[in-house]
Amino acid sequence: MTTPLLEVSNLNVSYGPIAAVRGISFCVNAGELVTIIGANGAGKTSTLNAITGLATVASGTISFDGTDLLSLPVERKAQLGIGVSPEGRRVFGDLTVRENLIAGGISLPARQAEARIDTLVERFPILKERIDQESGTLSGGEQQMLAIARGLMTSPRFLILDEPSLGLAPKIVSQVFELVQQLNQEGVSILLVEQNVRKSLAIAHRAYVMELGQIVRDGDASNLAADPTIHQAYLGAA
Ligand SMILES: Nc1ncnc2c1ncn2[C@@H]1O[C@H](COP(=O)(O)OP(=O)(O)O)[C@@H](O)[C@H]1O
Ligand SMILES: [Mg+2]
Repeated sequence: MTTPLLEVSNLNVSYGPIAAVRGISFCVNAGELVTIIGANGAGKTSTLNAITGLATVASGTISFDGTDLLSLPVERKAQLGIGVSPEGRRVFGDLTVRENLIAGGISLPARQAEARIDTLVERFPILKERIDQESGTLSGGEQQMLAIARGLMTSPRFLILDEPSLGLAPKIVSQVFELVQQLNQEGVSILLVEQNVRKSLAIAHRAYVMELGQIVRDGDASNLAADPTIHQAYLGAA
């Protein structure tokens, strides 16, 4: 048995009286692309925020490559190899593209950050074109690419993505999913939260379905995609 890269056990996250995440357990193995799907309010972002340290964990354990994540300050998580593209992109609109990227690699020495930016903009040509432009003037799709690139600044081996395709035009949505799949194929393990269930199940190895703070289904993404009850609840007609 191999140990999972990320292992979450009996996780509970509450906001005052609201129990957003209720005793969930799941894992991501090295090399996997795992997706968590579920309706608005199901607790997906709270789960990701518990991993990244943005949400307070009421109880449970989260370990990454054998290290207890809950006792670790946020900056140490980047050093361990965890990258994040947060919900709503959180691009700093009044900073340039370059400054946003530097913010993603704040733990890196300046020269290393510059070298990483040079590498990343080859992958994201639109960011190269706009490197000194204020990020608030970018389109939604461009801002999403920037959010992902910023998450890649520290060359993570594990990337957390919260609804990267939200609010984007269909063509850009496809580009985002292609990019996520490519990163995984290059060896980055990925935990993807998405409302686009069809596309997520198409690129993921495994999936978890969340409802009201709990995991109600899990399995191979292709099996879930073919499951009539999943179809009815999350994929609609066609
Ligand atoms: N900061 C917060 N304060 C209070 N309630 C919150 C907060 N964030 C999320 N919630 C509540 O927790 C539940 C789960 O939310 P969330 O994790 O954002 O779900 P999802 O990402 O699946 O849409 C919802 O009922 C939501 O209203
Ligand atoms: Mg969310």
